[in-house]
This record gives sequence, C-alpha cells and structure tokens, in this order.
Amino acid sequence: MLKWKVAALLALLAFGTGIAQSQRLWDPPAINVFPDHDRAARNARLAPSILRDGELLFATRFNRLDGAGRPASTGDSKPTPRLSRLAERFTRASGPDSASCAGCHNQPFTGGSGDFVANVFVGAHFLDPPTESVGTETTNERNTISVLGAGAIEMLAREMTQDLRAQREAGRLEALATSKDVTVRLSTKGVGFGVVKVRPDGTFDQSQLEGIDNDLVLKPFGVKGVGVSLREFSIAALNHHHGIQAIERFGWERTGRRDFDEDGVENEFSIGQVTALTLFQALLPPPSRPVPQNAALRKEWGQGEKIFKAAGCADCHVPALKLNAREFSEPNPFNRPGTATPTDVAGLIRLPLPAGGRGSGVEYGPDGSLLVFAFSDLKRHKICDPDKPFFCNEKLRQDNVPTDQFLTAKLWDLALSAPYGHRGDCDTVSEVILNHGGEAAESRERFERLSDVEKKVLVRFLLTLGASRYQPPRRQHEGG
Ligand code: HEC
Ligand code: HEC
Repeated sequence: MLKWKVAALLALLAFGTGIAQSQRLWDPPAINVFPDHDRAARNARLAPSILRDGELLFATRFNRLDGAGRPASTGDSKPTPRLSRLAERFTRASGPDSASCAGCHNQPFTGGSGDFVANVFVGAHFLDPPTESVGTETTNERNTISVLGAGAIEMLAREMTQDLRAQREAGRLEALATSKDVTVRLSTKGVGFGVVKVRPDGTFDQSQLEGIDNDLVLKPFGVKGVGVSLREFSIAALNHHHGIQAIERFGWERTGRRDFDEDGVENEFSIGQVTALTLFQALLPPPSRPVPQNAALRKEWGQGEKIFKAAGCADCHVPALKLNAREFSEPNPFNRPGTATPTDVAGLIRLPLPAGGRGSGVEYGPDGSLLVFAFSDLKRHKICDPDKPFFCNEKLRQDNVPTDQFLTAKLWDLALSAPYGHRGDCDTVSEVILNHGGEAAESRERFERLSDVEKKVLVRFLLTLGASRYQPPRRQHEGG
C-alpha cells in the first residue's frame, strides 16, 4: 500500500517537473553539424562546407535531444513564456507543427513551396493555451512559399531600403537648409512608395507612404511583407514550427535564460547554424523558365508576355528588377534586435549569387548588374474589395499591415508552386487572377475583357515561369 503511494507521488513529481526531463531517451540528437560563422568569414574556402551544413540543417528532422519542442514557450517570434507547460510535442494549429523545414518547403525539391496540407496557421502560434482551432478568428492560414532564389530577393530589398532612406535623408537636409517643408516622392528601381513630407525641424509626415512601413525598411519575406531577412524569418520559423530556439534571440544575453523553452536542452541553435541555414536558402538557384525552342513557341510566349503587360499585370508583377550587387552577404545590416547584424559577428560572409543566361531567373544584365526576374515589385498592395472579397478572408492584423494588403506574389515559380494564393486555395492560375480586386481591380477587368484565346495564351505564358526543369506538357504544343 505504502509502495503504491510512493510510486504515485514519484509519478506526480516527475510529471510536474516535465516529461522530457524525467524521460530517458536512447536516440542521438538529429543535428550533427556545428558550423562557425566567424571561421567561415575568415576563410573563404569553408564556403562549400557551410552551405552543405545549411542544406543538412534545412532537412534535419529535429528531435527532443536537439531541443525540439517548446513546453514553456509560445511560438511567438518575441521570446514569450507560456503560463502553463505544454505536454504535447506537436500541435497542428499552434505548433510545433513539423519535424523539419523541408517538411513543408519541398515542392519540387528541398527549399521549394508546399502543398495545402503544409499550410501554416499564423497567429495561432502565439496562443496560450495552445489552440487546435483553424478558424479565421484565431489564425491567418497561409500556404508555403518557396525560398528558391531568395538571396537575390533579400539583396534587392537591402538596396531598395538604402535608396528610400537616402531619399528621405536628402529631403531632411534640404528642409533644414531651406527652412521649408519638403515633399519627397519615394521611388526605387522604378517602384514608387508614396510620399514623405519633411519639416524644417527634421520631423516627418509619413501618412502618405504606400506599401512600406514607417522605418522604410523594405521587408520582402512572408505573404504580408513583414520579414526583413532570411535570417530573421528562419529564427522565427525555427521556434514556431520546431521549438528550436536560436541563441541570438532566445539565449542568455537577450532573455537571461539558457533554456528559455524549458525542454531540458540549452543553447539550441548557434549563430553559425543560423548562418548556414540562411546561406543555403540564399544561394538556392532561382526558379528558371525555358527558352522557347522553336518559332511557334517564341511567338506564343511573346504574345503572352505582351498581354500580361497590356492588362496591367506588370505594374505590380514587375518582370525584372535590377540588382547592383553580385554577391549575397550575411548578415543583413537592417536586421532588428534578436537577429544577428554585422556588428555581432567577426565578419561578413560573401558568396556570389547564382545567376546565368537568358531564362535563368537571375540573369547577367548588359552593364554587369543582375536582372532578377521574380515578377514582383516587392511592395504591398490592397488586393481585395467588397466586390472581390476572396483575398479579404483574413481577420487578424499582422504587424499592423491592413488585412486586405499583401505583398505582390513572386510569379517566377508558378509552374512549381500550385496551389496558389496566400491560403493556397486556388488550384488554377485563372482563379487567382479572377479574384484580384482592390488596387488590381482595373487590371482584372482588362483580363476579363480579353478573348478566351488571349486568356489561354496569357495563362500558358505564366505557366512557363519556373518550368524549365520540366518538359512542357504535350498539349501545350497543340493548337487551340
Ligand atoms: C509547417 C510548414 C512550414 C515549415 C515547417 C516551415 N515553413 Fe517556411 N514558410 C511556410 C509558410 C506557410 C510560409 C509563408 C508564411 C507567411 O507568409 O505568413 C513560409 C515562408 C518562409 C520564408 C519566406 C519566404 C518568402 O519568399 O517570403 C522563409 C525564408 C521560410 N519560410 C523559411 C523556413 C525555414 C528556415 C524553416 C525551418 C526552420 C521553415 N521555413 C519551416 C511554411 C513552413
Ligand atoms: C495591384 C497590384 C497587382 C496587379 C495589377 C496584379 N496583381 Fe497579381 N497579385 C498581386 C498580389 C498582392 C498578389 C498576392 C495575392 C494573395 O494574397 O494571395 C497577387 C497574386 C497573383 C498570383 C498568384 C501567385 C501565387 O503564387 O499564389 C498570380 C498568378 C497573379 N497575381 C497574376 C496576375 C495577373 C495575370 C495579373 C494581371 C491580369 C495580375 N496578377 C495583376 C498584385 C497584383
């Protein structure tokens, strides 16, 4: 009888102190690479190995011995303790929801996009206690977007941020010198971002900015355009999806804790490991499109592209943006606190961006710069309205971005990335186009007025984007 009571008491104690700690496990940790940022920055010959480590980390199926799971911490990107511990290792809605990054980013290969089944319930991951609800009251459901070619996108965003900030600064100096209000029209790489009014006392009126935040940092990642860098996004993803906490955000220096999520593992993911994970993504080849092999295809795709421009699609889905940089450098100087910046490391790691000839997605321009054919202006637009409410399905504001605004989706991987739309609930390109409203209403109406043949030619052109690894389906060559 007494024995029973002691056993019950011990069991209770064990439960109270956390299952993970009391449980013995005989597996090894899954993470088995330990790259070092500073060593790789000092020695260029280590580049191939840090990239390989990053690829391994992106596909590693993390386990409890790596520190996967976050019993005492929510999925919020800001370190946030839970009020009561969470016993389950996985919860579909609140997360942790996956064993590896590649669990979702795998279409058509590691680093790519994801099927509807890999959707993420953004917002649910902050909730404490965790929720299993996937309703729009608790979450914005999002489809996995590909990170192919992401290094060129991040470098474009850095250059655009520098331009916009320099324009505002020039306005500030002018206002100071002339003691008059100065109106600055912000524009970079041919994309306008509204107007800033600068007063002689150096203060700004930024109420007429368009598609960008007051800090003028262009955030090219996430369907809402809220992520500054691959590094920043990856640190949030590691915590949200896997309960793997990067030291630079969750470690002793920022939280005063060594095991913030209280899963029994300290110092889960180092600066070097985040760097490797980031570099692997940044240097993934961009999605590429086939070069037409015969005159008939050349004519058809050329017509498709013309219709795309005439319908106003290219006003937002700008085919190519010019990038001055030829290299990706890590880390990003605009990273916010909790994500390493150049001052947190001994040196930058610089690697040439993957680029090639015609059709390769990132192409050498005539003047030595690169042309990034992502088909996006990297700007947020209002994309729905009462007449076309489809893309107005979300109810929760994310980082103060209005619920009806989304970043212009990159189209360069369309052939690889179905299903489409931020929730992944359109299985054809035609449906997505027909659901464009808000700022795109006029362009959609132009599309609606095209003949069936023209519409078909446009869609066929769009489906060449990202298709170069694949033989086009036979039917494409047939008439009609
Ligand atoms: C459960 C599925 C899932 C897992 C696991 C996952 N992601 Fe994602 N990823 C998504 C979704 C969905 C989005 C779009 C989210 C949004 O915009 O709100 C996304 C977006 C991204 C982006 C932004 C890409 C862009 O062009 O905007 C990056 C970078 C990224 N993920 C990296 C990672 C890394 C690194 C990991 C592993 C640590 C990871 N993801 C794990 C589903 C996932
Ligand atoms: C006002 C800017 C704007 C215009 C004009 C515009 N789009 Fe879009 N487009 C967007 C935004 C923003 C999204 C993201 C929608 C979402 O939230 O899923 C998008 C998404 C798409 C997608 C889905 C991509 C994916 O991977 O899910 C396709 C395809 C597309 N647009 C094609 C077109 C075509 C074709 C036209 C011209 C008829 C056009 N767009 C005009 C802004 C625009």
